[in-house]
Amino acid sequence: MKLFQTLILLLTFSAISANEHNHHYNTNEQVVVWVDTVGPFANSQETYEFTQLPYCLGEKTLLDHHHETLGEALLGVELINLGTNIQFAKNEEKEILCKTTLSNSDIKTFIYAIRNNYWHQLYVDDLTAWVFVGEEDEPLSNNDNINNVEERKQYLYTMKNFSISYNGDQIIEVNVTNLNPVHLKPDADEMHITFTYSVYWTKTDKLFSNRWAKYLDSDFFEHKIHWFSILNSFMMVIFLVGLVAVIMLRAISRDYARYDKEEGLLDLDRDLGDEYGWKQVHGDVFRSPSRLTWISAMVGTGTQLVVLSFIIILYTIMGDLYLERATILTATIFLYAVTSMISGYFGGSYYAKYGGKNWIKTMFITSGLWPGVVSGVVFSINFIAIYKTSSKAIPFFTMVAILAIWLFLIFPLTLLGAIIGRNWAGEPNFPCRVNPIPRPVPDKIWYAEPIMIILLAGILPFGSIFIETYFIFTSFWAPNKTYYVYGFMLLVFIILITVTACVSIVSTYFLLNSEDHRWHWTSFFASGSTGGYVFLYAIYYFFARTKMTGVFQTTWYFGYMGLVCFGMFIMLGTVGHLTAEKFIRKIYSNVKID
Ligand SMILES: *[C@@H]1O[C@H](CO)[C@@H](O)[C@H](O)[C@H]1NC(C)=O
Ligand SMILES: *[C@@H]1O[C@H](CO)[C@@H](O)[C@H](O)[C@H]1NC(C)=O
Repeated sequence: MKLFQTLILLLTFSAISANEHNHHYNTNEQVVVWVDTVGPFANSQETYEFTQLPYCLGEKTLLDHHHETLGEALLGVELINLGTNIQFAKNEEKEILCKTTLSNSDIKTFIYAIRNNYWHQLYVDDLTAWVFVGEEDEPLSNNDNINNVEERKQYLYTMKNFSISYNGDQIIEVNVTNLNPVHLKPDADEMHITFTYSVYWTKTDKLFSNRWAKYLDSDFFEHKIHWFSILNSFMMVIFLVGLVAVIMLRAISRDYARYDKEEGLLDLDRDLGDEYGWKQVHGDVFRSPSRLTWISAMVGTGTQLVVLSFIIILYTIMGDLYLERATILTATIFLYAVTSMISGYFGGSYYAKYGGKNWIKTMFITSGLWPGVVSGVVFSINFIAIYKTSSKAIPFFTMVAILAIWLFLIFPLTLLGAIIGRNWAGEPNFPCRVNPIPRPVPDKIWYAEPIMIILLAGILPFGSIFIETYFIFTSFWAPNKTYYVYGFMLLVFIILITVTACVSIVSTYFLLNSEDHRWHWTSFFASGSTGGYVFLYAIYYFFARTKMTGVFQTTWYFGYMGLVCFGMFIMLGTVGHLTAEKFIRKIYSNVKID
């Protein structure tokens, strides 16, 4: 664990002042205040560089810019030294930060920002505080047109009051309040503004280890509903596991008994007899699926994503990563690269098992599928970010770094995995022979059609994660809520995988019983359809629960939601497909067919 953390630090060329790293200060040592990006309160992902507002910064004696990790660069974190001269445990009364003269257009910029509820984040010793740019008058009476902005006055906050508590040589809590609002006159030619700050230090007995408690909204995340939903999903798991057990018993014991009696009959007789159901398609279930290359690539990628998600959640729980800016993202990228052997291995062995010949192409698709989709979405959003000069625009150097990771880490590891998988686990060891001519799929009732199974199968798994989805969305899209209950997430993840596996078995059994042998893609899509339901929920969430506006934020939201849901589709599709394959092997392996 420690080694890995060090590795990440090394790889991410992180170099900030030493005291911010160990969080111990000497008396009168400088404490840096970093300002993060500015942006509208309702659009948490629409952020701009701080300096795009005509603020001024103080004189700096230390670093100017915070060196970024890879994750921070991707998330558009832009930390700039505000230029305050704050010393540890030393009070300051109304110190001057800087003086500036606002031109008419600067004033208009500030007015625009205040009208749109712009705010920004401050970091002091990694602790964060949120402050608004300014405030707006309430309309004088209800009769006034609220939208008539000319009637309302905008005030710019010019003073920050830092209230910092400390215990020994460590900073425990930081509160920042805004003071001295200055009325911005929209038609003034210029205004002289002085930004000031005060600092009040107080001693406290609170422990350093508890300093994050105030950011973790435990009333919200540990609400009764949350516990209740877990319990609920757990009941669902028990019910489904019971159902699967019943199916297995039925399929394996009773059906075999009948089937064995008929041994020795010709296939033709069997087909014409009153025997029907899954046994009829034994000559087709192990036929190679259509588009073998793609299903192999998806199975490989899905397996990797499942393993990766487990590792990330566990690692986050153990390392308390949620407390650190963008660390989860940085860790995810490197862990993704390191685990790409898994996708190569499973994709390669799956492909070889079904007798695929063009494994090089499959390997290329496996290694490029997920990175390709992600980069496609990220680059499209990036165009809009660049156009809007948002800080979310990804720097060129970061893109090169990502490309290098793909080229020198992901690709070779996938190749290695594919070679191992092909040679060591690529034996086509299916229990039944494949008939040379595919059996025609009989006409059947509408609800046994694959498309209906696909639509219905996603509902239960979605139901089991629905509440958790709400919590995750809220913590991601609402400002200043940090998701920290990764224990819940782990539990829900395990429940989701179990429910998906069970539903996949049930729906595959149903499909085969209707003498339909097209189970490969059906089981994949049926299990993956949960991702589709999550996306539908995301659409509802956007309109009902958030106040996001504007092209940029909307694209961002749907782009990344789509990506997450596609990831879920591949992961759960793989889980469902592989479980269905295990199930089919199991029920057909005892059937003796000559
Ligand atoms: C700033 O905050 C401190 C501590 O909360 C308070 O005592 C002080 O009065 C505030 N300063 C001003 C100018 O309001
Ligand atoms: C910060 O604000 C909270 C809530 O108003 C208060 O309980 C706490 O004592 C303040 N801390 C400091 C260091 O001023």
